[in-house]
Amino acid sequence: MANGDKFGIDILGKASYDSPLRLSKRHGDNIFNFVKENEKILLDTSLKEYKKCLAGKKEPLGMVKAGPREKIYFNTRKTKAAIVTCGGLCPGINNVIRSLVMGLTYFYGVKEILGVRYGYEGLIPSYGHDFVDLTPAYVKDIHQFGGTILGSSRGSQDVGAMVDCIYENGIDLLFAIGGDGTLKGADAIGEEIKKRGFDISVIGIPKTIDNDINLIDKTFGFETAYNVANTIIRDAHNEATGAYNGIAIVKLMGRDSGFIAASAAISMPVVNFVLVPEMHFELEGENGFLTFLKKRLDKKQHAVIVVAEGAGQHLFSEDVKEKVTDASGNVKHKDIGLLLKNSIADYFKKNDCPVTIKYIDPSYIIRSVPANPEDSVFCNGLAYHAVHGALSGRTRFVVGKVNNRYVYLPISAVTNKRKKINLEGGFWYTVLESTGQPFKMR
Ligand code: F6P
Repeated sequence: MANGDKFGIDILGKASYDSPLRLSKRHGDNIFNFVKENEKILLDTSLKEYKKCLAGKKEPLGMVKAGPREKIYFNTRKTKAAIVTCGGLCPGINNVIRSLVMGLTYFYGVKEILGVRYGYEGLIPSYGHDFVDLTPAYVKDIHQFGGTILGSSRGSQDVGAMVDCIYENGIDLLFAIGGDGTLKGADAIGEEIKKRGFDISVIGIPKTIDNDINLIDKTFGFETAYNVANTIIRDAHNEATGAYNGIAIVKLMGRDSGFIAASAAISMPVVNFVLVPEMHFELEGENGFLTFLKKRLDKKQHAVIVVAEGAGQHLFSEDVKEKVTDASGNVKHKDIGLLLKNSIADYFKKNDCPVTIKYIDPSYIIRSVPANPEDSVFCNGLAYHAVHGALSGRTRFVVGKVNNRYVYLPISAVTNKRKKINLEGGFWYTVLESTGQPFKMR
């Protein structure tokens, strides 16, 4: 019995064109094979799950394996693609744009690729952001730069109007590079396209330095971002040790998930406290953060604290807690770094214990840099697999790696909740092992 097609992906219709790719169908000839339609990658690779499925005579839950198909849906000589980048910047966006253009052009012979300017605004003609023609010559050097050559914006736009624009411009494939909000937007566009019966495929490429997209191993740019944070923490440690009872606080991005703060701290193991949105901690009391900080200073005379921007929001008094949201509807957090700085200063003053505090907020710097080599490899892989999936006629899907293999997942499966650090999991335990901070500070 099948385990339900939880990760089934919408297909526009029967793929009836031969792929222009000269790939193989048999093993042993040293030529890469086309991916067969029924090839899947398992979600849960544990022995426990295997035994459970065996006992229940169920097929384990699988995801569509990504890659080139022998038959494709689009007549590539007539296919027009468009690429849009939305939301906050992230290292590697230009690499993805470049590899999409190269893959569409050189693998499949797609001749027209439009760059949509300034996010979804570019699909609303009244904004006046004209499309740009993306050609290999136009994009060949862009991977060397951070940011996005297309520009970006936050916020949703009228779905009907965007579909009008996509249709009227003869676009067959829309690649949307963005985070949770962008992907939800792409899915809504795909739904409207389906309602209208258009033959247009919508593909999401998950992007956020926060690494908070559900199910997938990691988002591109995340590694580069915490690599940048790594050296900032190294230098913050020098500041902390440079004074008797020196305290360095480094605030890093991470709205709802603390992956950047946690990974950066493990990668530069001089951090004594990592504070993330997933954990509830108190400042005061014998088990509060400040008591542990004092113990640390008594022992070592310096401390390094890494705090994610979304951590400790419960510590703000009700009047400052009033919710402010950005154009995408994300809650704009209060400055936990400053609150920590002031609370630490007050606490040690009260305890008559002089401390030197350095507060470092690298802010946008960690996400506006070019991709590092690992992310460049990853961006390339994501873009190529996105191109193959798009031409196969699949729609409303994202490309990502799960269990280190490229798969296609329905957009709805990755946007139904945010990925968060599991405080009972091995990753967070490594943070605690590395920092020596207690399981709970409350
Ligand atoms: O893209 C994610 C992110 O970098 C978050 O970590 C951060 O909270 C947010 O974007 C800030 O974005 P902006 O200030 O550009 O709206």
